[in-house]
Amino acid sequence: MSDGTSPFGNTATIYKDRDVLRPDYQPEELIERDEEINKYASALEPVLHGWAPDNIFIYGKAGTGKTATTNYMINWLQHDAEANEESEDVTIVNINCDGLTSSYRVAVEIVNTLRDDKAQIPPAGHSKTTVYNWMYEEFNELGGIILVVLDEIDHIDNDDSILYQLARCESMGKLENGRLGIIGISNDFSFRDSLSAKVKDSLCEKEIMFPSYESGELRRILVDRAEESLYDDAYDQSAIALSAAFAAQDKGSARQAIDILRNAADLANANGDDKVSDDHVRDAKEHVERGRVEDMIDSLSPQGKYVVQAIAIAERDNQTPIRTKNFYSLYKKVANSEGSESLSGRSVRDHLSELDMIGLLTSERKNEGLSNGAYKMHELDVSLDSVLSYFESTENER
Ligand SMILES: Nc1ncnc2c1ncn2[C@@H]1O[C@H](COP(=O)(O)OP(=O)(O)O)[C@@H](O)[C@H]1O
Ligand SMILES: [Mg+2]
Repeated sequence: MSDGTSPFGNTATIYKDRDVLRPDYQPEELIERDEEINKYASALEPVLHGWAPDNIFIYGKAGTGKTATTNYMINWLQHDAEANEESEDVTIVNINCDGLTSSYRVAVEIVNTLRDDKAQIPPAGHSKTTVYNWMYEEFNELGGIILVVLDEIDHIDNDDSILYQLARCESMGKLENGRLGIIGISNDFSFRDSLSAKVKDSLCEKEIMFPSYESGELRRILVDRAEESLYDDAYDQSAIALSAAFAAQDKGSARQAIDILRNAADLANANGDDKVSDDHVRDAKEHVERGRVEDMIDSLSPQGKYVVQAIAIAERDNQTPIRTKNFYSLYKKVANSEGSESLSGRSVRDHLSELDMIGLLTSERKNEGLSNGAYKMHELDVSLDSVLSYFESTENER
């Protein structure tokens, strides 16, 4: 308020601890991941005897607990290694490759993680060989067991030389002192197939798949989070079940389920309600979905946006699922009305398959016998309202 009184409301009425519902919160216990934890443990177990671990490749859709489970495993590994006098020193280098698009940048990050503040190197300006040598120097100085975790490894573009360097450094004689293990984590399974054969074989010695969560599993995860973050009488059990059901229907992502619950609790707080109800969850779901769709569309090129706009128009006018050739004329109209050249049919098909991959739309292949050949039908895979409201709001900005 501008009248000289505090503009802050009382946010403590519902939340015991809001941080527990933040996406980067590390839970002490993991729910419904025993099988994955057992596989993970057997791949890492050798470390506790001073042997090199197998390299591990972890994959599964976003929000399936890959990062949380990995942190859980490496915390326990360090704990057990310290408790065990026979075990060698274990150093964990935990890198998130989001934003580190090249092998060079990843190597710089590894070196800087291991060096102290005064000896940091800049993100550009040296040769790749120099940076790799500095990296080996750091490894050799450390000795013991070194575990390099590369989370969101699929963000490293086209050149996988860092993976080659890490996977092969013992056999290339670069690592004289110590043993190295790699944990690669990816949302995108096709990343594995894009690797060169040599890298693939060494990086993927052990593979662990994290399946998407079902509704019941999400509910148990949420019940646990809610107990820690919200006061007992500040939420309906049905609101928890509904948040879980919405997330299960969509992507089976625990992150999304937690996002919905946090948004619902924020809404309840903002309204001055003393309980998180089903209605709050319904509104929160719309809000979360809208944010997710906006982020996806924002990241597209202008032409990608025209394709999305055209499919939304088709959906609004009940023309979906729509055949590629009918879609193409609709797309041309949108591009032209935006004052832009239109792409070739082939490029538009490329855009459509990219949008299918990121989950904005789905394309289904149809086969009408030999005479008619195969064709594809496309429709939106996110809520139409969210897409329309994105384009309405950007319209207003212009
Ligand atoms: N099995 C689980 N038990 C408890 N919390 C979980 C579980 N799986 C995921 N979460 C929570 O869901 C969110 C997303 O998980 P995260 O590990 O970041 O997913 P990923 O790395 O696969 O995208 C985090 O807040 C995490 O704590
Ligand atoms: Mg992650």
